[in-house]
Amino acid sequence: MIQYIDSQRIFLLHNKWLSVVLCIYSDENKCDELLLTHFGAPLDNPGTTIPRISRRGGASFDTLRQILPYACPTEGRGDYRPPMVSVRDEEGQNCTELFYEGYRIEPGKPRLDGLPASYVEQTDEADTLLITLGDPLTGLKVELSYTLYRERPILAASARYINHGVESFTLEAAGSVCVTLPGRYDMIHLHGAWAKERAVERVPPATMTRMISSVRGASGHEHNPFVVLAAPDATEFDGECLGVALVYSGSFAISVDENAYTSTRLTVGLNPRCFSWCLRPGECFQAPEALCVWSGEGLNGMSQSFHSLLRERVCRGLWRDQTRPILINNWEATYFDFDQEKLMNIARAAAEVGIELFVLDDGWFGKRDNDHCSLGDWVENRRKLPGGLQGLASEINKLGMQFGLWFEPEMVSPDSDLYRAHPDWCLYAKKRRRSIARHQLILDMSRQDVQDYVIEAISRVLRSAPINYVKWDMNRNFMETGTGMDGVRQGEVAHRYMLGLYHVMETITANFPDVLFEGCSGGGGRFDAGMLYYMPQIWTSDDSDAVERLFIQYGTSFCYPISSMGAHVSEIPNHQVGRLTSMQMRGDVALGGNLGYELDLSAQTTEDKEEIKRQVKLVKRIRETTQWGVFTRLLSPFDGNVTAWQFTDEKRVVFCAYRVMARPNPAPIRIRLRNVPDGIYLSENGQEFSSTTLMSVGICPDFPRGDFSSCMIVFEKK
Ligand code: DGJ
Repeated sequence: MIQYIDSQRIFLLHNKWLSVVLCIYSDENKCDELLLTHFGAPLDNPGTTIPRISRRGGASFDTLRQILPYACPTEGRGDYRPPMVSVRDEEGQNCTELFYEGYRIEPGKPRLDGLPASYVEQTDEADTLLITLGDPLTGLKVELSYTLYRERPILAASARYINHGVESFTLEAAGSVCVTLPGRYDMIHLHGAWAKERAVERVPPATMTRMISSVRGASGHEHNPFVVLAAPDATEFDGECLGVALVYSGSFAISVDENAYTSTRLTVGLNPRCFSWCLRPGECFQAPEALCVWSGEGLNGMSQSFHSLLRERVCRGLWRDQTRPILINNWEATYFDFDQEKLMNIARAAAEVGIELFVLDDGWFGKRDNDHCSLGDWVENRRKLPGGLQGLASEINKLGMQFGLWFEPEMVSPDSDLYRAHPDWCLYAKKRRRSIARHQLILDMSRQDVQDYVIEAISRVLRSAPINYVKWDMNRNFMETGTGMDGVRQGEVAHRYMLGLYHVMETITANFPDVLFEGCSGGGGRFDAGMLYYMPQIWTSDDSDAVERLFIQYGTSFCYPISSMGAHVSEIPNHQVGRLTSMQMRGDVALGGNLGYELDLSAQTTEDKEEIKRQVKLVKRIRETTQWGVFTRLLSPFDGNVTAWQFTDEKRVVFCAYRVMARPNPAPIRIRLRNVPDGIYLSENGQEFSSTTLMSVGICPDFPRGDFSSCMIVFEKK
């Protein structure tokens, strides 16, 4: 429900979990400004949130501006905290005043132009409040959009910037949302690097600006566009927290600023460091959407709300609600060194154990025998595949498996026919050398001709063979972020690239609705809500070691659902860390995502093949629960030697525990399950447990001897 309470000049957005209050506030000159005065637990009297500042303690004009929770703070007006908006006018001045002008309340949720966003299927799922603010001098209007889902603790917020004036001006920051909370908050975020993405870090309150960001042109391995403000006493199961995920896959910035007046301002949006946008009269600029989740039930409560929203109202298409296939990928089995026979040996062994999809990774096109060449030349290599993709795919199909293919559509190798024909089609800065990374350059997706080429090249391959799955990779980040295209201001290129990329992804995924797309970026370097709008699953990390994956998958689950995480069992010694782990442990970890295998199945021992067969059979039985059930984190790998998590739906509970190091004479460890639906449950060995027992007494996992072990129990409801 959204209502405007005229007597108090308040907007109240309210459902059973969450209240958000915005208020029109007259400043010292009797001009109306917009404040966001509450974001949190449901309120019965929103009027109490209107700020009443006492000057008795000597509060100055300056103090007031450092305290007020502006909904859309600007630069140059004495609020020295990070602004949401920064505008440079034609005179070169940077000073913007935004006054309240009006509002509209609409049922449902409008779509965002050219950008991914959450959506509704029925208008009665949500209501949207649109508030217009205006700067009388420049003619800038900002339309703030706040959508409250009726049955979710979720507010989706974004902003549209419009030039209603007669002169152009430049947006130097155009944020998505700004929320100021009273009090001090821990900041939880997900950080990392290649092969160790999304580690959880909890930073205590500090009187300073804490910031996470990317200037890479991708959301990146280092920081994820997701943050939590958690009350210092909030845990996985209790306490208040606000999680925010930006629905964007490019350079972003999220800042958490705490000042001397103990309030915490969260500003979320595009990264101003690599952004400026000229807005001519009549033009508008749409900022990406931020999804804000409120939980009064700790971090698991917040994550579960994100999971269902991303799964149900950000992911789209046929695959959104479909069980994900168990796949085998040849990358770590062969790297670039394969031919049809090698692939078929792996495929035959995979078919025997019940695997459903064979994915051919990098190296199938041009003359690519290593990563030095051919990106952009999307033509099958007949030396490796004499019958072409069509020939290979039909052989795979005969084994009863589907066929999938790897692409890296946004890239070009300097050693490629594409680059020789169009050296100006990549991102570059004029008169500077073009920096190469992984021997490749980035196609300038801000150009229409490049977008058209990519759409046609990829579509041609997808039409040429029965391809059911695509892995869409991206293996380097921006350096010289410039375009050779005339008439485009260079500060706009990074965001125009994203708009171009989203257009390409929208077109290809819409034209091939049956294909399951999986995003990837050197592992998990672009794992964000923006990508999930086009591709319902993403390769979580190039690190497939079972122990490392505990950390990576646990961290990823703070925001992203299990059905979005690609998780593979790979060879030992593990290719990233050299660790030896059992096939059972590798399988038990990988089923905490969309299970796949990435090894030469034909070369495994009979014992391991039998174990894989068992895993595949088990996952086919329980994947409805693991992919679509409620996921609960029980014990964190970041806190100790044992990790545990649980999947729950109406049919069963799947409990998984993992122990990294074996200890002599260990004390038994008891883990209590959470939110088990009422009833009696049967474990595989025929033992009966009541839901109360599972929750109040818990499970004592019986780990096999040795390091790196796991214990998984499926409790079927009677
Ligand atoms: C990076 C990906 O993360 C890997 O899985 C693999 O597809 C390689 N690229 C291929 O170049």
